[in-house]
Amino acid sequence: MYKVKISLIALAIAGIQLNAEAQRKTVNQRVDSVMRLMTLDEKIGQLNQYSGREVTGPLVKQNANMLNDIRQGKVGSMLNVQGVQNTRHVQEEAMRSRLKIPLLFGMDVIHGYKTIFPVPLAESATWDMDLIRLSAHIAAKEAAAVGLHWTFAPMVDVARDPRWGRIMEGAGEDTYLGNDIARARVLGFQGDKLGGLDAVMACAKHFAAYGAVSSGRDYNDVEMSEHQLWETYLPPFKAAVDAGAATFMSSFNTLNGVPTAASNYLQRDILKGQWKYSGFVVSDWGSIDQMIKWGYVPDKKQAALKAIISGCDMDMMSYSYIEHLKELVNTKQVSIKLIDDAVKRILAKKFELGLFDDPYRFCNEEREKAELNNPEHVKATLKVAQRSIVLLKNEASILPIQNSFKKIAVIGPLADSKRDMQGAWAGANDADRVVTLLSGLKQKIGNGVQITYTKGSTIKTNDTTGFAEAVKVAKDADLVIMALGEAYDQSGESRSRADIGLPGSQDQLFSAVQATGKPVVAVLMAGRPLIFSNIAAKANAILYAWFLGDQAGNAIADVLTGAVNPSGKLPVTFPRSVGQIPLTYNDYKTGHPYNSNVFQYQTGYIDVPNAPRYAFGHGLSYTTFKYSDLKLDRSTMRKNGKITASLTLTNTGTRAGEEVVQMYIHDPVASVVQPTKKLKGYGKVALEPGASTTIVFIINAETLSFYNQQLKWDAEPGKFKVMIGSASDDIKLQADIELQ
Ligand code: BGC
Repeated sequence: MYKVKISLIALAIAGIQLNAEAQRKTVNQRVDSVMRLMTLDEKIGQLNQYSGREVTGPLVKQNANMLNDIRQGKVGSMLNVQGVQNTRHVQEEAMRSRLKIPLLFGMDVIHGYKTIFPVPLAESATWDMDLIRLSAHIAAKEAAAVGLHWTFAPMVDVARDPRWGRIMEGAGEDTYLGNDIARARVLGFQGDKLGGLDAVMACAKHFAAYGAVSSGRDYNDVEMSEHQLWETYLPPFKAAVDAGAATFMSSFNTLNGVPTAASNYLQRDILKGQWKYSGFVVSDWGSIDQMIKWGYVPDKKQAALKAIISGCDMDMMSYSYIEHLKELVNTKQVSIKLIDDAVKRILAKKFELGLFDDPYRFCNEEREKAELNNPEHVKATLKVAQRSIVLLKNEASILPIQNSFKKIAVIGPLADSKRDMQGAWAGANDADRVVTLLSGLKQKIGNGVQITYTKGSTIKTNDTTGFAEAVKVAKDADLVIMALGEAYDQSGESRSRADIGLPGSQDQLFSAVQATGKPVVAVLMAGRPLIFSNIAAKANAILYAWFLGDQAGNAIADVLTGAVNPSGKLPVTFPRSVGQIPLTYNDYKTGHPYNSNVFQYQTGYIDVPNAPRYAFGHGLSYTTFKYSDLKLDRSTMRKNGKITASLTLTNTGTRAGEEVVQMYIHDPVASVVQPTKKLKGYGKVALEPGASTTIVFIINAETLSFYNQQLKWDAEPGKFKVMIGSASDDIKLQADIELQ
């Protein structure tokens, strides 16, 4: 199964590349024909992007300047103009410009436009590329139906610090899984070929290493070795390039002292040079003139100069290009060739989207209405949400809820909170569409079971006035379900937290309720891994439900009642203590291994264990799986060869279930010290009770390679350990292999 999936994605990518090559030739000719007509002002206009929050709706008149710029051909793209009526209206202004070059409309459609899917980190817990691709595809369909051409997604930043609020926007901590998810999301947004009316341009962001901002503080500096950059942080961007991502966005951080919008190394050497990227790069919002605040340049003109020279093609909302590029060209500080190259990249995308043929082709009211009310989209978000849930703990198999529980208490500030279920970056969300846990449970739990609800506390405050009622309701119940966690605006951009425990009085509320002695199932909701030692120790079961989108309540109720067997696996490590952060399964060996007798504390802490609370890859099921019969077709291979590893997976429980089988590799002796484990393969399989299947992994030189001291991706001869299991800390089968 694992093999089949990989080859389908590879075929899709190969097809896209062939298509793209043929298309590029005609597109280039058409681009050149427009370029010949353009003045310098019009060229610079293409590199300028404004936010249209203020040009649509009642504020149109106040923004006459922006509209005027559009009519003069001084704007290439607008963000945050949405809806067929609005995009049509603003495009009409562009059609009044001399050359009638259509505008590109972009927006952050991160996990759905109207139909809200689970936040990206949650979706990553599915480890299911088909579902992730489907979610992106539906987001794109809805976005394209409201006149948008471009989403600022996927965020492919590897993130290993849960204090960073934007960890919710990405695929978690792992590079290998992140590569697959980057590909799936790009293909989902763009379809097989740009120009489809159900697709938008993707934007791989934030280039690069934004996920490693120091101490998880948003917008901060990143100091990183070349080795770490190439090994861990760049690969998902390369995967996005290979999948055909139409655009890239630079980031808000500095990388080794250089703001990334001014990074020649990232944008010219790596992206447009080594990776031969033909799409265009947009800055992040205002990040070009933020170079002044960084203390990297004295003024906006220098900022524009640095950015254009370094390969940033479009200026998002800093007005630096529109105000200064002309003078920079006229004084010969910037060559017209650089401007032409940037303009061509942008025009090419406008041609590929078909906008020169019909600038209003994404503006169709009927399509808009149909797509925003498409019942298939609701079904899809429910399916993705069900599979994003991770069962962290299930003491004495208390879940699924047994028939003997006749009185269920639902307690907690997130049990009936609609907006919070959608998380941050919720597109054009409509909270009225959300099914909460309380309403989902009421619908799914059979007659004869009484559900009593009380909120108990707020999410963020220290108020305890609801505790007495919560204790009373709990005492009167057979089972308590507590919905606890963060508010939707406590993760996301600019939402870093130093304390990632439960906010407000929620932990106390849990203690008060748990002290009643009634069994407690905790359903935790958040955009990041939280730290919840008390709950981890005392709750009878824990479901990690992230922010699951519009169908959150139905999905959680399906898992609680057993209609759906949970299959999610953590895409990120859950620490025990903030002091352990950053913590990853992908850690390094040291000269003082933790369990050695001498000075063992040098590699650990004296106050908490080294191990995380829940490891990368962890996730339980209502059934059990047995791993057996690991077989290798050979144990040695040459660089151009391969080893096929196969094993038997058996569902040994009484329910049908899905398991994510994970393969990790370790290179015990290498010219660059290697992590103790690296994920190098996985496969998700569904098995009926008692059924078995064979899982096959292919190991080749690619599987064994790493960036060596010369930053060359290569595999070194020697022995390797192959570890296969159900989580990074639950290895079931191992074998040694050798590369000759
Ligand atoms: C974020 C980007 C986003 C942009 C446009 C910025 O603040 O960092 O990720 O795409 O705004 O909304």
